[in-house]
Amino acid sequence: MVEGATAEELALAAELPPNRWPLGPDSPIEAWYMDDSDEDQRLPHRLTPNQPCPAEALHALGVRVWALDADAYERGDPQLAAIRKVRGYSYEDRITITPEALPNYEEKIKGFYQEHLHTDEEIRYVLEGSGYFDVRDLQERWVRIWNKRGALLVIPEGIYHRFTLDTGNSITALRLFVGVPVWTPHNRPAEHVPSRSKYLASLGGNVEASAVLAA
Ligand SMILES: [Fe+2]
Repeated sequence: MVEGATAEELALAAELPPNRWPLGPDSPIEAWYMDDSDEDQRLPHRLTPNQPCPAEALHALGVRVWALDADAYERGDPQLAAIRKVRGYSYEDRITITPEALPNYEEKIKGFYQEHLHTDEEIRYVLEGSGYFDVRDLQERWVRIWNKRGALLVIPEGIYHRFTLDTGNSITALRLFVGVPVWTPHNRPAEHVPSRSKYLASLGGNVEASAVLAA
């Protein structure tokens, strides 16, 4: 049990089992395997026909999601407060990415889209707009995770990933962090970064399965 958290807070912050994830076209979060075209990164890049990524597959990669009530944010959402407390997210700020709000927009967008990893979790809660977080699976496929208003996404330390806006060209999101934030990206190849081997070790048997597939 997390120190200081009540049973009610623990229940509010609890991770949903993958079979209850709010994943799909009508939800704040949708995930699919990407095509490999070089067209604008802001396009959906779905395969034909679309191939959704199941929640179980994302969960196995260490990704965690919650769908929160974004309307409740300004008045103090008890579920968000519980998640912050239970998971130790002591830091919070808000970032808006639009061509108008972000200096050097085109350059920054390209930077966010460089495949990289971090030495901590990356936690984003979408308050307005939407964007794509792409994560690499163990077969080197890109899984595109579409995050819209109300989506809280946690991607694990050490996973290769990238971010882009979609064609709406606008997102406002909370950035949460445990302690003093470190935003440094380690661009791929980053096999020497201890977080990478830690991540692969956390996947256990799945790594061996992927090695067999890659051979
Ligand atoms: Fe990142």
